[in-house]
Amino acid sequence: MMKPQVLQVAAIYGPSQARLEANYTVHRLWQAADRDALVREVAPQVEVVVTTGGAGAARELIEQLPHLRLIACFGVGVDAIDLAAARERGIAVTNTPDVLTDDVADLAIGLMLAALRGIAAADRYVRAGLWLHAHMPLQTRLTGKRLGIVGMGRIGQAIAKRAAGFDLSIAWHGPRAKDLPWRYEPELLTLAHNVDVLIAACPGGAATRGLISRAVLEALGPGVFVNIARGSVVDEAALVDLLVSRRLGGAALDVFADEPRVPEALFALEHVVLQPHQASATRETRAAMGQLVLDNVAAHAAGRPLITPVH
Ligand code: 8YV
Repeated sequence: MMKPQVLQVAAIYGPSQARLEANYTVHRLWQAADRDALVREVAPQVEVVVTTGGAGAARELIEQLPHLRLIACFGVGVDAIDLAAARERGIAVTNTPDVLTDDVADLAIGLMLAALRGIAAADRYVRAGLWLHAHMPLQTRLTGKRLGIVGMGRIGQAIAKRAAGFDLSIAWHGPRAKDLPWRYEPELLTLAHNVDVLIAACPGGAATRGLISRAVLEALGPGVFVNIARGSVVDEAALVDLLVSRRLGGAALDVFADEPRVPEALFALEHVVLQPHQASATRETRAAMGQLVLDNVAAHAAGRPLITPVH
């Protein structure tokens, strides 16, 4: 029996990649010398696309695959997948929710601490031999501060639960109120004015593009901005400008507009913490994400209900 044919847009967790290629005929688009030629060659046989939250699947690719039935995403964020194009063709989309929530929330808390207490800067300070000559400048307490969370889905709620352990006052903003134990602020500007730390935990995509605007960042002022969402949710040019001119107190960033390229103006800033999109990047979580991709593809191949369909 022929193995189902899979067009893979980007690599996934190694061991899961190996099992995918053991069970299916996988065409590695990200390694193709001529991507268009590969798509034309395999289009008549491909039913499944495997991709990642960062690589996604554009309408142009979807429309080149007449027999495509499933797009399986290694990641919870599906903003780089053209869901409208998939929906028009009745193509199912799956992602990897829940298994990464704790890691992403953990990193958000870690980034908040790192930014306020200068942990990355202190590491550089010691390695540079500066402690031999002077004490490191004082930093900022986290406990008891005011936290604002933009986006109170699974990840936002996991952040809020962790933050309570630091005696933080917690408020949040989103498109609509929910029955949650934290204060809802319908106006994002008002939230930004009234917190010490603002964490972006909302989905990427058109609805949140530039949501953290220059005005929101100016309202945050001496506060710290943490982004574990998507680079697209913030006006990155404004963010860089306000950080360079010290009109924003600090930032801790795991995601960027044009990954893996990061605005080099940020590199010299001691009050900025930079991460290479690491929020879900632990062995345990990447293994669980990979298993979900495998399980969804296997369910599709067997004609069973998908495990984590995106609605
Ligand atoms: C992955 C992510 O790093 O889950 C997501 O949406 O951003 C991360 O878990 C990403 O999918 C890799 O491209």
